[in-house]
Amino acid sequence: MTDLNRLQAELTVRAAAAKDSAELEALRVEALGKAGSVSELLKGLGKMSPDERREQGPLINGLRDAVAAAIAARKAELEAAELDARLAAEHVDLTLPAPPQRRGHVHPTMQTMDEMIAIFAEMGFALAEGPDIEDDFHNFTALNFPPKHPAREMHDTFWLPQDASGERKLLRTHTSPVQIRVMQRGANHDVPSWVASGQAPPIRVIVPGRVYRSDSDATHTPMFHQMEGLVIDRAIHMGHLKWTLETFCRRFFETEAVVTRFRPHHFPFTEPSAEMDVQCDRSGGSIKIGEGSDWLEILGGGMVHPNILRTCGLDPDEWQGFAFGLGVDRLGALKYGMPDLRDMFAGDVRWIEHYGFSAFAAPSPATGLS
Ligand code: DAH
Repeated sequence: MTDLNRLQAELTVRAAAAKDSAELEALRVEALGKAGSVSELLKGLGKMSPDERREQGPLINGLRDAVAAAIAARKAELEAAELDARLAAEHVDLTLPAPPQRRGHVHPTMQTMDEMIAIFAEMGFALAEGPDIEDDFHNFTALNFPPKHPAREMHDTFWLPQDASGERKLLRTHTSPVQIRVMQRGANHDVPSWVASGQAPPIRVIVPGRVYRSDSDATHTPMFHQMEGLVIDRAIHMGHLKWTLETFCRRFFETEAVVTRFRPHHFPFTEPSAEMDVQCDRSGGSIKIGEGSDWLEILGGGMVHPNILRTCGLDPDEWQGFAFGLGVDRLGALKYGMPDLRDMFAGDVRWIEHYGFSAFAAPSPATGLS
């Protein structure tokens, strides 16, 4: 037996006998690695005379191929054996209880908003949105709040620091500034590009969104949600406003028995202005809508003030409209019986698990109470 034959026999026997992939890998390095015994033989070919090389070359290459094949064959065997062992050891037990999983919930505010949007969408309203960070013009001036007017103070505004141009932006105190944004582009085509949206009348939009006021108690949170409504068309009057809001209330509270009352009020951006109350029963500790003889204020509204139409480039003799604003969280709390508004935004998972809604129900005006 030649030395090469002996080496080949030894290496292939050891490969076939390797008990695991670590041992096999060590053998591969020992034989075929950079400084391996077979690699050294291959390197030696370079130093041989042409005749020697012609004789030894095929033998040494044959040795290398035989060893590599033996290692590959054992490798495949070991892998198959390892797979068999895993298949034997691991199996899926379908009778095991499923691991507990926490299911998320839809926040009551978002549920309420979806219900409101569905109701107004059925009445033909489109959605409009505006920025949370507003300027004084849209939040106050264009809405007919005169400079230094006490009504501005009543809004407990969060002001941002002065920017480079000396302007102080604010966190919008209501969704009403979006009325301006919606009306302005339609009437005036060279408004700056930061005006988010705009259309020519007729307009019929609702504006859901976050608003901010520096205020915190059981019925006020520094951030809350409003939904604004705006209708601009020809020959619009208070009757349209009343019908719209009453229809909304019946759908939202899911009872035909809703009784409403309009009380004269003042908002700078509507004339005449009103607050709307719903009749309710407070006797049992909770508020029930559609029964009783108490009144609960739920929203504000009125006819869009001519000054606002003019500011937006609309002629008040041609276009009229109504607007309203309601508190989404507050109406949700009323419908679903949540006593303290502050809990809604405290981020307590137990609260959302108790009051939250399934994410799998399609939003509809009636998902809540059914
Ligand atoms: N913006 C008012 C507020 O936050 C609510 C409101 C009242 C909106 C009357 C309106 C409206 O559009 O017509 O208190």
